[in-house]
Amino acid sequence: MIRIRNLVIDGQCVMAPLAGYTDSPFRRIVRKHGAAMTVTELASADGIIRGIPKTMQILRFHDSERPVSIQVFGNNPGIMAEAARVVESLGPDCIDINMGCPAPKVCRGGEGAGSALLRDPAQVFAVVNAVVRSVSLPVSAKIRIGWDDRQKNYAEIVRALESAGISMITVHGRTVHQKYTGMADWSVIREIKEMASVPVIGNGDIGSHDEAIARLRESGCDAVMVGRGALGNPWIFSGTVPDWTTRVDQMRDHCRLMVDLYGDYGVILMRKHFSKYIHGFRHASRWRERLIRVTTPDQARVLLESMREMCLEGLPPG
Ligand SMILES: Cc1cc2nc3c(=O)[nH]c(=O)nc-3n(C[C@H](O)[C@H](O)[C@H](O)COP(=O)(O)O)c2cc1C
Repeated sequence: MIRIRNLVIDGQCVMAPLAGYTDSPFRRIVRKHGAAMTVTELASADGIIRGIPKTMQILRFHDSERPVSIQVFGNNPGIMAEAARVVESLGPDCIDINMGCPAPKVCRGGEGAGSALLRDPAQVFAVVNAVVRSVSLPVSAKIRIGWDDRQKNYAEIVRALESAGISMITVHGRTVHQKYTGMADWSVIREIKEMASVPVIGNGDIGSHDEAIARLRESGCDAVMVGRGALGNPWIFSGTVPDWTTRVDQMRDHCRLMVDLYGDYGVILMRKHFSKYIHGFRHASRWRERLIRVTTPDQARVLLESMREMCLEGLPPG
């Protein structure tokens, strides 16, 4: 359990922010399956203070997602502080500062934001300190282990974060240069856990519940964070192995939540989730072909109904 002021993370496996996937419906689902905390996808500090509708939409959450953290990116201390005050007024449990996103549109420009911040520990200090001073919520940061193989400056970054008043650090065990290639380096995550005075959450390449437990034990981290491994598999948090009827029911419930929030467009947004849930299903590629073409809630319902019947008829998928 992690306890930071009013934030209580009651469990040791949390859901990672995944832009394009971890919206409110998805976060509600993983919380129900045992994720100990959820985080919104990254939202631009600039967009927040300008009230850009697309950005503001990212910040919406439902009470059942709590504890929920809102993730913000930016490199200007003043703008970040102002954005943090707006975020705080929305009532999340934590504010997370993104220092791990390698996408050019986030890192762009001289010092840049997202993972580009890691190249400049003084700027890390300035940004985090400004945010910490402007709100009373706990402030956490999500970092990578360095810029590239030659600049693994995590020790310096951790010191900068701590002296700026950070409450918790999540470490994705890759360099920025690696993007998503190679493997996360859990020995560095362990080293960071040993040196840090605040709770540390380890992240990278956890593909199963057992792996989550093993990583937790080996690294000594306070919690681990699962990202891609939870797509189409929210059961990764509970460790249960659902039968295929249960999986199809989950697809249906997920789709309903999407339509409730986005209207019919929710079905289009649901396609990428369908294609994850369907992994391992009998004749998966044929079903996937059909699921990724649905355009209305009715079409989705009919398809899922026939999948369900197939499961009930004892034609086990896989
Ligand atoms: C599609 C996608 C979107 C992501 N979006 C975010 C994001 O918004 N904020 C963030 O801090 N990390 C983001 N990440 C990084 C993940 O949170 C996580 O650190 C990374 O995927 C490694 O964990 P995993 O191997 O369990 O997926 C994203 C990763 C992916 C694949």
